Amino acid sequence: MASDLFDKFRFGQGGTNHRPSAPQPDSSESGTGASALPPGTAGTVPGTADGNAVRAGSTFDKSQLGQIFIPPSLLNLDNSNAPKMDEAMFKRFRDFIYEQCGISFTENKKYLLEGRIAKRLEAHNLSTFDEYFRLISTSAAAREELPSLFEVVTINETYFFRNPPQFEALEQVILPEILKAKQAQGNKKLRIWSAASSSGEEAYTMSMLILERIKPQFPGFTFEIVGSDINTAVLEKARTGVFKEYSVRNMPAHYLNKYFTREGDKYVLTPEVRSQVKFMCINLYDTPTMRTMTGFDVIFCCNVLIYFDTIAKQQVVADLYDALNKTGYLFIGYSESLHGVSKAFKLVHFPKTIAYKKE
Ligand SMILES: C[S@@+](CC[C@H](N)C(=O)[O-])C[C@H]1O[C@@H](n2cnc3c(N)ncnc32)[C@H](O)[C@@H]1O
Repeated sequence: MASDLFDKFRFGQGGTNHRPSAPQPDSSESGTGASALPPGTAGTVPGTADGNAVRAGSTFDKSQLGQIFIPPSLLNLDNSNAPKMDEAMFKRFRDFIYEQCGISFTENKKYLLEGRIAKRLEAHNLSTFDEYFRLISTSAAAREELPSLFEVVTINETYFFRNPPQFEALEQVILPEILKAKQAQGNKKLRIWSAASSSGEEAYTMSMLILERIKPQFPGFTFEIVGSDINTAVLEKARTGVFKEYSVRNMPAHYLNKYFTREGDKYVLTPEVRSQVKFMCINLYDTPTMRTMTGFDVIFCCNVLIYFDTIAKQQVVADLYDALNKTGYLFIGYSESLHGVSKAFKLVHFPKTIAYKKE
């Protein structure tokens, strides 16, 4: 059965919210391998005291400023006092972050990491990376600081209805299949996990779909959606249920009108959408915690595996496999693959998307 609500997402159809069938990796999200200017070098003027002036990506184009000279101090470009992270320090932070959460910063991303961690030095009024490293590697202080470190090293790009073919497969095939089987067994509860949910748009998209398309067909069921992330700041945002234009830009108008109220420039989710979703802080790279996550019928773990190396991916995907019920499905991001990561699942094809089934 085709769903008219998804029609505007299909290729070649001119719905107002039309996007390509599945999202490309966003430029802001090309992993910790994302390109970024070295901290403080944007528009750096050649010949300043700033030793970064000749680094890659920092070429200064005079035409941007016409012929007017603007002192770097006014442009906030004078970072000569900014702390520097040498190779050895970069490796210590890189290894530490990898051990804590599986995120891999490749060699050429030193500047990215330097810029992000510099924010934490500033927050603690520290002047060297070494001091900050000592802080995070001292167990008592680390417990307090690690969430803030995760906050600066994660990329949280997300939006509602991000990959429509996945939601279409979920609504039209997967949920009816699972719910019918549960009905036959007298089991009236369905559980979905949005693992690495960021600010909750993916989890809430599923909640709206269930209210709109699934609950009317399966009225006696309880639906529980868990959204989880390692970044506590985005989880706080998720819990508010309040979003900006950016998050709803891909939303079918019907859902926007029915499940949100407008307050100025904010979009506020209705209580019934929020009531099916709960958020918790889960580090996907922490196996003991992952083992507490069990009994899910569907898991979305999208656009996060790209930040992990193969070993970390293998560990996380094995734990997700264990978290799924038999006959449950795993979705990963459009640009992600389980090739070389796991052979445990059966690959299932749907129009313009795939899912991994636990048999
Ligand atoms: C790009 S967002 C993806 C959001 C959503 N799944 C989507 O596809 O739109 C990636 C999220 O993964 C989270 N993340 C990164 N490493 C993680 C880890 N080890 N455990 C849990 N979440 C993690 C980040 O904090 C970020 O919010």
